[in-house]
Amino acid sequence: MMMSYNVTPSVIFSTLLLLLLIFYLYSSPANQSVFTYFSPVRNTGRDSKQVSPFIASETLKSSLYVSPQQTSSSSIKIHKVQKKISSLRRVEKDLARARAAIRDAVRARNYTSDKEETFVPRGSIYRNAYAFHQSHIEMVKRFKIWSYREGELPFVHEGPLSNLYSIEGQFIDELESGLSPFSARSPDQAHAFFLPISIAMIVAYLYRPLVTYNRDQLVHTFVDYVDVVSHKYPFWNRSLGADHFMVSCHDWAPEVTQEDPDRFKNFIRVLCNANTSEGFNPTRDASLPEFNLPPYEVTIPHLGLPPSKRHIFAFFAGGPHGDIRKILLRHWKDKDSEVQVHEYLPKGQNYMQSMGQSKFCLCPSGYEVASPRLVESIYSGCVPVIMSTYYPLPFSDVLDWSKFSITVPVEKIPELKAILKQVSEVEYLKLQRRVTQVQRHFELNRPAKPFDVLHMVLHSVWLRRLNVGVAE
Ligand SMILES: *[C@@H]1O[C@H](CO)[C@@H](O)[C@H](O)[C@H]1NC(C)=O
Ligand SMILES: *[C@@H]1O[C@H](CO)[C@@H](O)[C@H](O)[C@H]1NC(C)=O
Ligand SMILES: *[C@@H]1O[C@H](CO)[C@@H](O)[C@H](O)[C@H]1NC(C)=O
Repeated sequence: MMMSYNVTPSVIFSTLLLLLLIFYLYSSPANQSVFTYFSPVRNTGRDSKQVSPFIASETLKSSLYVSPQQTSSSSIKIHKVQKKISSLRRVEKDLARARAAIRDAVRARNYTSDKEETFVPRGSIYRNAYAFHQSHIEMVKRFKIWSYREGELPFVHEGPLSNLYSIEGQFIDELESGLSPFSARSPDQAHAFFLPISIAMIVAYLYRPLVTYNRDQLVHTFVDYVDVVSHKYPFWNRSLGADHFMVSCHDWAPEVTQEDPDRFKNFIRVLCNANTSEGFNPTRDASLPEFNLPPYEVTIPHLGLPPSKRHIFAFFAGGPHGDIRKILLRHWKDKDSEVQVHEYLPKGQNYMQSMGQSKFCLCPSGYEVASPRLVESIYSGCVPVIMSTYYPLPFSDVLDWSKFSITVPVEKIPELKAILKQVSEVEYLKLQRRVTQVQRHFELNRPAKPFDVLHMVLHSVWLRRLNVGVAE
């Protein structure tokens, strides 16, 4: 079935304004495309033979929202449809106002706010501090997300809260807590729709015991969920997925949309495994920082010493996971007293303490592009040394990583020490000060606080939602 969408004058208008905005917000050449056109998508409507694990629970949670499709009287149907159209128009108007406010802030080089602002982002760590500040203000003021109620524990509505995938669970838990100011009261009010499904939980439960790495079960479970919500409600079809998003830190997460790329071509995926050579698209998707949280904690120690007390020049400890780390270990493991590269941390040496005593912390990709070392080195006030390929860094539409990190291309790993030695003391102190400045954007708070990491994740989604207009 072909669908056609009328582009209304207001949609054209707002996207034109957006052109300016995006010029300021995105300066990386990878981000050329400005908005998604809703070209007709062929929806395959997969004939799934297995029983969806979500169907059973549908009736339980559906009482919160009655879809107009469920009403029998046609006059009521028309009335409801009209109401829906005007609510979408309201949502789009709201986004248009936000875009205009951001554009004004960029022009005036200052913000406007109804509230007293406790933090004003300034400085070179931001690509455009005025645009970001106003965009954050507008997000806090307006952004409403509908988190679908369908689905049951343990696959949906919760995720892992500790260890390597914890950011996935923390994000789901924050939006599902019922306390988030970003939660929409009804789907009609929502600017974006969240699929609160946890890839890490599906893998943990469906693949236990782990006898197969075949991804079919995972993919079917995810696609079934999308089938359920897109049949039951009009929202997915209305935007062809462009105002819908998922958040996952699991290595396998990108694969859930790969079997049907056409259907998911607009869908916003917020992923740790943000490998651009495996279909991650930074204008549509967002890169999620990885956190290795200890059990029952939402924080990692901050043990950074002042720059003058950092007696380790460069530091890394970790296994030979993936190609880049193998190269690093081959060239530097136990070879240099200044560049301390360990496969196993010597007995008695504390990992986070060592980072806090180091000037540079090496952050190579492992089995996947993301590494918890980015967050750990920022918390430690240690200048991150990025070694990765195909990896758009988290929040790089807002943050200019070149101002607070060093990038060493993989082929230059043998020259690592010489490259770091070229950084002058003055330049180092600048980088280090900016690392401490950027800390606030990686702090994990529950409940979330303005400008912290959960707000930054939400802002990544907000920006991508601002980037599209949904036509009626
Ligand atoms: C920026 O705007 C704020 C609030 O509107 C105002 O208090 C402040 O004086 C302005 N700053 C500049 C430099 O114009
Ligand atoms: C959305 O589109 C699919 C495929 O065309 C269709 O099966 C489904 O019923 C539609 N959903 C709604 C709520 O109309
Ligand atoms: C990113 O994807 C490419 C292509 O599949 C792969 O060769 C590379 O190893 C991936 N990077 C990481 C760190 O996994």
